[in-house]
Amino acid sequence: MAVAPSGLENVVIGPTAISCVDGDAGELYYRGYDVRDLAREASFEEVVWLLWHGDLPTAAELARLRGELARQRVIPHRTAALIDTLARIPAVPMAALALATGMLGVDDPASRSVTPSDELQSALLLVARYPTIIARYERRRRHLEPVEPPSNASTATAFLTMLRGSPPDPVESRALDVLLIVHADHELNASTFTARVIASTLASVYAAVEGALGALSGPLHGGANERVMAMLEQIGTPERAEPFIYGLLAQKKRIMGFGHRVYKTEDPRAAILREVCLEFAQHRQHGRGWCDLAMRVAEAVWQARHLYPNVDFFSAPVQHMLGIPTDLFTPVFAMSRVAGWTAHVMEQHAHNRLIRPRAEYVGPPPRRFVPLAARG
Ligand code: ACO
Repeated sequence: MAVAPSGLENVVIGPTAISCVDGDAGELYYRGYDVRDLAREASFEEVVWLLWHGDLPTAAELARLRGELARQRVIPHRTAALIDTLARIPAVPMAALALATGMLGVDDPASRSVTPSDELQSALLLVARYPTIIARYERRRRHLEPVEPPSNASTATAFLTMLRGSPPDPVESRALDVLLIVHADHELNASTFTARVIASTLASVYAAVEGALGALSGPLHGGANERVMAMLEQIGTPERAEPFIYGLLAQKKRIMGFGHRVYKTEDPRAAILREVCLEFAQHRQHGRGWCDLAMRVAEAVWQARHLYPNVDFFSAPVQHMLGIPTDLFTPVFAMSRVAGWTAHVMEQHAHNRLIRPRAEYVGPPPRRFVPLAARG
């Protein structure tokens, strides 16, 4: 048996028609559409439809999806009660989101079904309800009353409205919309692979998404964006960027938000979010500081190691400027990626075969059992 390279690097484990990463060219396509075009022209809801159905929606289909999402944003009573409990204890937000996901499954009568129509409906509930869950959690832990989901708003506008208690301006709303678009899917990244492994046992969408949340939370994956913000805050001013980065590298530490397993050139999502950061900073009176600092850090990392920023790097200053607390950055990533995870679960179930690889055994050879009394 051939042994796969460490970390399954460059191993192709099967087909997908959902998204495609060209790591050498620095390109990402969702169902054949360049993510740059989608970020410029489309809305997050159009991307959700595209990932689930394979094509961009017509105006009528988009209106139907927007209406369904808006109607389903109200969360069931038991999920709301669970969030209120979790907000009273020092829970890690990603763990709270995973618990709330489990409770959403409890409240979804179709949660155990793996038929395409039931899975699509569960996927819709997850995408609709994540903004409500995250915003409610934040308001409850700040001892504020939760805000009802607005009746006719996009995911980005609804989330910021429920988080802050007042609607965002169009520039803020669009900045978050673009951020959601670029996070929506990314081929077989660690969390999506996790979701597909779980789905391959014919477990539910909810089980797959709970597992994916765990994988996303780690600092080498989606958890990097929170660490980027902590690093930017620690650096403080642009002139300190270079010594700070060289200091970290001298200690053989990893710079969060840099490097990627697949991209050998710039991650197109990082380039899109850098533009969002710059545009948004112009809009904000005091925003420019975070952007300038992030740019200086990127320059220093390039000079020192020739590493490109990944999606998590500019996501941090953008989310910070939107007033999103740092420990909610990864949940916001999940609020978007749940669209991709659920698309992959549905694709897995459409042509399912259990994912069960082998391992190369490197332990001791077979040996005689030693009774407890004889060990010593
Ligand atoms: N900082 C410093 N050195 C780095 C970094 C980094 N961010 N990334 C890679 N390297 C170096 C490694 O130290 C290693 O050097 P060496 O060969 O001298 O030991 C070399 O580059 C290769 O690194 P690997 O870990 O083998 O590369 P891999 O493909 O396994 O890692 C990863 C990819 C995990 C993303 C890595 O670049 C990293 O740790 N980045 C920081 C965390 C991060 O930003 N994660 C988010 C990724 S995007 C996403 O998941 C949404």
